[in-house]
Amino acid sequence: MHTFYRLEVSLTQLEELKPTETIVNGKKIGLLKKAGNVHAFAALCPHAGAPMCDGWVDGMGRLVCPLHKYRFDPANGRNTSGEGYKLFTYPVEIRGDEVYVGLLG
Ligand code: FES
Repeated sequence: MHTFYRLEVSLTQLEELKPTETIVNGKKIGLLKKAGNVHAFAALCPHAGAPMCDGWVDGMGRLVCPLHKYRFDPANGRNTSGEGYKLFTYPVEIRGDEVYVGLLG
């Protein structure tokens, strides 16, 4: 069961296609606003723990890890460059201009 936490930052304040690290209920997570949606994902890369928000978004809208440049779909964590990892993702709800991220427990 997820508990949803409202982010301090609003939908309007989030910059499009700019990975942004934040803390939700004491947990570091990454955020990416893309085409009006917000995706939330683990702050650290599942490969070797690099900070995902030091990475960038490629021309296909995929999140690129800054260390070895593995690519992930921010919507579902799929490792689109094919190394076999999965980036953990969190559910997001947008209510007006407010953004909520769901954590388990
Ligand atoms: S630490 Fe992210 S690809 Fe290696």
